[in-house]
Amino acid sequence: MKTVRVSLLQQDGEEVVIEDAAIGESLMEVARANGVEGILGECGGGCACATCHVYIEPEWQEAVGPPDVLEEMTLDGVSHILQGNSRLGCQILLREELDGLRVSVAPPQ
Ligand code: FES
Repeated sequence: MKTVRVSLLQQDGEEVVIEDAAIGESLMEVARANGVEGILGECGGGCACATCHVYIEPEWQEAVGPPDVLEEMTLDGVSHILQGNSRLGCQILLREELDGLRVSVAPPQ
């Protein structure tokens, strides 16, 4: 199975580096499986809860791409902590081009 490296900066300042994130999984699934604090994934990846909210590091924004309309609507629900680089982790499926991806976990809602 092909894997990529992703890292998530938690709110406490600790960076969790995951060396073997499986391609095809979502960033939310990988983060939860590795105990990343602040990524709850309460709706199970249904793009409905925004408890997988992350901020994409600027150098990765282009590769990750923008949210679709449904994701934008869900992100609107957390507009008080919304940033231009906000994405929902469950909507980011890992692929080869995202090897090395770095994000920060958004604060609690
Ligand atoms: S897990 Fe609920 S919106 Fe991502």
